[in-house]
Amino acid sequence: MKLIATNVDDSIAKLSGKIEAQRTRPGFALDPYFYRSHVTYALELEHILYQSWLYAGHVSQIPNAGDYFLFDLGEDSIIVSRGQDGAVQAMHNICRHRGARVCEEAQGNRASFVCPYHGWVYNMDGSLKAARDMEMLPGFDCQDYGLKPVKCQIFEGMIFVNCNLEAADWTPELAKIAAPLRGQGMADARIAESIVYPVDANWKLVLENYLECYHCATSHRAYAKSHSLKALAHQVRPLNEAMLARCETVTGVAGLADEVSENYSHAKQFGGCVCHSRYALYDGYLTGSEDGQPVAPLMGDFKGFDGGASDFHLGPLTFMLNYPDHCVLYRFIPRGITKTDMQLVWFVRGDAREGVDYQKEKVSWLWDHTSKEDEYIITRNSEGVNSNFFEPGPYHPEFEELSILFVNWYVDTLQRAANQVD
Ligand code: FES
Ligand SMILES: [Fe+2]
Repeated sequence: MKLIATNVDDSIAKLSGKIEAQRTRPGFALDPYFYRSHVTYALELEHILYQSWLYAGHVSQIPNAGDYFLFDLGEDSIIVSRGQDGAVQAMHNICRHRGARVCEEAQGNRASFVCPYHGWVYNMDGSLKAARDMEMLPGFDCQDYGLKPVKCQIFEGMIFVNCNLEAADWTPELAKIAAPLRGQGMADARIAESIVYPVDANWKLVLENYLECYHCATSHRAYAKSHSLKALAHQVRPLNEAMLARCETVTGVAGLADEVSENYSHAKQFGGCVCHSRYALYDGYLTGSEDGQPVAPLMGDFKGFDGGASDFHLGPLTFMLNYPDHCVLYRFIPRGITKTDMQLVWFVRGDAREGVDYQKEKVSWLWDHTSKEDEYIITRNSEGVNSNFFEPGPYHPEFEELSILFVNWYVDTLQRAANQVD
């Protein structure tokens, strides 16, 4: 992690002053304070990360009873497991005795979790099975000390978690994007590749970079050859209209042209953004590969290539880019004040065979290449933003519209959090 000079006189009062000042400059990038303040980071974890729906993994990672994987976020760790009854659940990886991690290996299959410290034993559903010699303590009951649960919801095979146990059911919101997503066959999809790119930057810089394509033409030459998002809407309107007119007929996926735009302050549920839009690839390109040619069998219900790609938002930090033959899931997770895990997961059709129906290097080439370019540019961005001489400039009104939306939501959220502490 790159060290930065953080504010030594940081406080809620200082944060409140910075929020007030930020509000006087709508449409401008965030003040550098928000990227280097420990008070801010602590509030972000509590009021954003632990209150939002986050992609944890895919059901294919835990097909059998006893399977589990860990999802690390912030300074925390969550266990996602499949119990003996086949149900998937999530729980905090924190022993109820004195707080040791009960599980260290990132994934596996177990009959139980045995805490390495004093040996308390937990079932795969998190209930406490045995606590060595604790019967000496009058009134001790294993039922009182199960691993603390995390809210968990499965949508089209994707497992989402929310640390806020009071969070409302997300299903009604997800239903809004079910039609365009359903055709992808995600519930039966197979993970072709999964890579974590640790980025030395605050999570907001990594997210802001994803939310805009102003940088695509300059930073992503390979991507910009095939994807029309690098252009202003009016420049590619005929291309997009032609693709939208044919997409449902060519692919056979009803609802593929549906547009849903409920993210950040437009989301009906805090931390539960849902969004879908389909945009055109340039003529001659069929998918998001190095040469624009197919790299895997058609997924789910897709019957053909329409020359389009779908962009989904699933919560504030999870995104998907869907092509007819594969899709890419993006997840951004803060791991420290200037450390962010950018994870990409590439999915292909569930029955596709690696080396026969697809080569994972070809499936992952474009977005691996693009992500490395992003990692490079975000790190440079972080260095500049953390300089004492940085003065935020204006966002582009169209290209960086989503970044503006995010920043407004972020500032409102921090304001509420600061008011609660006051
Ligand atoms: S901390 Fe887990 S058994 Fe003591
Ligand atoms: Fe990028």
